[in-house]
Amino acid sequence: MKRIDDSFVFRGIEFKNRLIASPISINLSNLDGTVSDEDISYYGSIAKSGVSYVTVGATALSVSGHSTSRGLRCHSTNYLKGFEKLNKEIKKHANSCIQVFHAGQQINPEHTGFPPVGSSEYVVPDIGVNARVLSIDEIENIEEEFVSGISRLFDVGFDFVEIHAAHGYLLNGFISPHMNRRKDKYGGSEENRFRILKNIINGLEKLDHNYLSRLNLRLSASDFISGGLSENDLSSWKTQLSLEKLAIITASMGIYESAKMKPLAMKEGRYRESGRLIKGLLPNNMVVSQGGIRWPEYARKILEEDNVDLIGLGQALIADNNWASKALMVADDTIIKCTECGRCRYIKRKQLDFDCVRPEAFHSRDSKWTKRKLAKNSSRGGTK
Ligand SMILES: Cc1cc2nc3c(=O)[nH]c(=O)nc-3n(C[C@H](O)[C@H](O)[C@H](O)COP(=O)(O)O)c2cc1C
Repeated sequence: MKRIDDSFVFRGIEFKNRLIASPISINLSNLDGTVSDEDISYYGSIAKSGVSYVTVGATALSVSGHSTSRGLRCHSTNYLKGFEKLNKEIKKHANSCIQVFHAGQQINPEHTGFPPVGSSEYVVPDIGVNARVLSIDEIENIEEEFVSGISRLFDVGFDFVEIHAAHGYLLNGFISPHMNRRKDKYGGSEENRFRILKNIINGLEKLDHNYLSRLNLRLSASDFISGGLSENDLSSWKTQLSLEKLAIITASMGIYESAKMKPLAMKEGRYRESGRLIKGLLPNNMVVSQGGIRWPEYARKILEEDNVDLIGLGQALIADNNWASKALMVADDTIIKCTECGRCRYIKRKQLDFDCVRPEAFHSRDSKWTKRKLAKNSSRGGTK
């Protein structure tokens, strides 16, 4: 039976337990997308929390592929120094992973100064700007940016790189029949809709066949929209992309258009069910269960009952960055629980400085960033 405190070796990398930090974009990079001191402070403090592995939030590999004004970018070698520093900081305490993406049809030009682009014309209701359809040359260029960008990040020393193909961003927007209405070789049939991601994976394998054994995928198990992706498509992800060659697979759900469905689906256990289904399809990959996991007791139950390998923690770690070490010591009742206020999501959407209603809990007090936050909060009368 799997337990949260199991240690093991996977693909030559030691995992000290089965708790991992899910990707969280904090919108605190420098304005040009380079890694800031705040990024290093945040991800470093999460690494200290006791988890075995930390995923840096969605990082764009194209100059215009980010989704927030201060989103991380890594589209040129000039950016690598910062990522090297960030990776080193995480690796003092945990294994490192970085998630890469292109925001595609969901880019908000007001936030990034770049237009939304994608497989097809598509308007996110909250953004209201029609996406420009990418030409075949542009798609091939983006494929190349993913391949060279991922290769650079492996060279920097990240243990794993995760491709983000969920949440309605560019790759999800090609694979989903709801968002992709193309009539050429990148649209229509299942084979065509998966082509862009397949080309990226094949391109990486050609460059270095070892890359795939450290390549992770976050896929969309459901768009929550009729005519979009659903759990019935999970076996297509496996066969179209030969997922057994990759390392760690995570299911997430929802696109911006259907974002309100996410909390409900988590409560109903659909995220958990997707993890279980993927593990059934891919017994030799590491499979993550994530979404709404707030209590160690629930994490332990998932590992016992679902046969998945890793527990992904997002907001639980924002609210209490000692969550993992407390859970490992079975000091569950000392955990500061996420209040489910949604503030961290809201401020990301509104392009505000990332924080939590519990700043006293979520960063080590000695970090520069926490000190600044606490000072700011106390001058505003504090947040309780
Ligand atoms: C502030 C915030 C930022 C997030 N950033 C990312 C991201 O960069 N990439 C991603 O795949 N998911 C992102 N997510 C989703 C989380 O990784 C996770 O799937 C989701 O919050 C559900 O898990 P949880 O209940 O443990 O938080 C973000 C969530 C929040 C709240």
